[in-house]
This record gives sequence, structure tokens and C-alpha cells, in this order.
Amino acid sequence: MKAQYTHGRPVDESGVREMFTRVAKRYDVGNALMTLGMSGRWRREIQRRARVMPGNVVLDLATGTGQLAVDALRAQPSAQVIGADLTPAMLDIAKQRHPGSSIAWVCLDAHALPFDDSTVDVITHGYLLRYLDLHAGLAEQFRVLTPGGRLVALDTSPGAAGIIGRIASSATTFWPRLVGRFIGQTAEDYQFLQDSSLAFHSPAVIARALEEVGFEGCGSKSYLGGMLAVCWGQKPTL
Ligand SMILES: C[S@@+](CC[C@H](N)C(=O)[O-])C[C@H]1O[C@@H](n2cnc3c(N)ncnc32)[C@H](O)[C@@H]1O
Repeated sequence: MKAQYTHGRPVDESGVREMFTRVAKRYDVGNALMTLGMSGRWRREIQRRARVMPGNVVLDLATGTGQLAVDALRAQPSAQVIGADLTPAMLDIAKQRHPGSSIAWVCLDAHALPFDDSTVDVITHGYLLRYLDLHAGLAEQFRVLTPGGRLVALDTSPGAAGIIGRIASSATTFWPRLVGRFIGQTAEDYQFLQDSSLAFHSPAVIARALEEVGFEGCGSKSYLGGMLAVCWGQKPTL
């Protein structure tokens, strides 16, 4: 299935998988450098919004090396946590990083979730939305969530308007390029990430898309001068 990426060059799942296979081994260190070690701030917000309850089924999509899945399990040790990703090499690192954890690691494409309707209480994801057909991907997540289920999504955004946004945007151009080289990204990979970040939907557009597929109580919170945002919504209760 083709990912309908409409805000930059189109990508398909095999291209995405190849890119993340190249960077898998150095992804965590690259991510820590790229976010200047500040990811704890938005990771805490993600878990606060996710409100994982005892026994909940939690699905962390695009789990990569599994950090958000581990955060969910720490927040609620009796939860059944599934860490799912398109790229086997990323899941291999997740398994190595978290040996003996109760998390189920699953290889899947988020466009077609292998779960029945209304069977997942919480969905989280970090940096997945840009690879998805936004409405179809969110509708698929809505389908598998239980009534009252929560979706919390982190992604980059085009940045705040005005002087703060311009400073944040230029400061984050040089640094990710350097880190990208270090973790094994090709110039083309870097250009794609850069273009897709700058051209990606604003949090307001994502919140509106959440409402359009049926979520309620939607909102967002921005970080790093508007370069990152956590967006959330809840499936209505019956
Ligand atoms: C930048 S990494 C994010 C990893 C982790 N969530 C984090 O916050 O650091 C993006 C991940 O999305 C995965 N991905 C991309 N398209 C996907 C899809 N259609 N279905 C599932 N995972 C996908 C990639 O394989 C990659 O591991």
C-alpha cells in the first residue's frame, strides 16, 4: 500500500523501512541529540494524556526502539502493552533494549491494524503521522479504540509564527543535519525529514482531522518553539 504523503516527496512503505533499517542501530542516540535530551517533557505529557488504567490494552504505533511503549508500562505495570512498527530492524533494537519486558513487539503497517474493532484502550505514537494518509490512518486508529479510548500523537510541526518560530526553525536546521549524518542518514533521507517537518500539518490541522474522523475533546500542546506538538483526542463513549 502506498503512503499518501502529500506534503513533500511521496514515500512508500518499502522506502520508509529502508530508511529506518539504515539508522536503527544509532536511532536512540541520534534522537537524544536531536531533541537535546529534552524528550522527557513531552513524553510525560503523552502519558498524562493517555491516562493508562490497570489492565488497559495500550498500542504504541511506530514504536521504533520502544521508548513510548516502555513509558506506558512504567506508568501502569498491569497494562497489556503492544509496541508495533513497520521496520523489523527497529523492533530488533527494541527487543534488545528491553529484554524480559512484558511488551508484545509486533511488525505491522499502521494503515491496516490487525485488531478487531473497539479492542484497544489507548493508542500512542511518536513521529508516525507524516508517514500516514492522515484521515485514513486516524480513522483506522479510531476503529480499533474502545469507546472512551484515548489517542495521543507526537510529531514535528512547521513551527510557531513570528520571531520565536524563526529562531527555533533555523537553530534546528544545522543540528539535525549533523546528527543525521552521524546516525547514518543519507543526504536524501535528511532532506525528506527536513521537508516533511517544515511542510507538515500544524497541530490545529491535526486536531481538526481528529475531530473529522470522530474524536472528541481534541487538543494539542507545543514544544521547542512550536517545532514539536503532542495532539490528543478521545473516542466518544457509547
Ligand atoms: C522516527 S521513528 C519514531 C520512533 C519512536 N516512536 C520515537 O518516538 O522515537 C518512526 C517510526 O515509524 C515507523 N513507521 C513508519 N511508517 C509506518 C507505518 N506505516 N506503520 C508502522 N510504523 C511505521 C518507522 O519504521 C519508524 O520506526
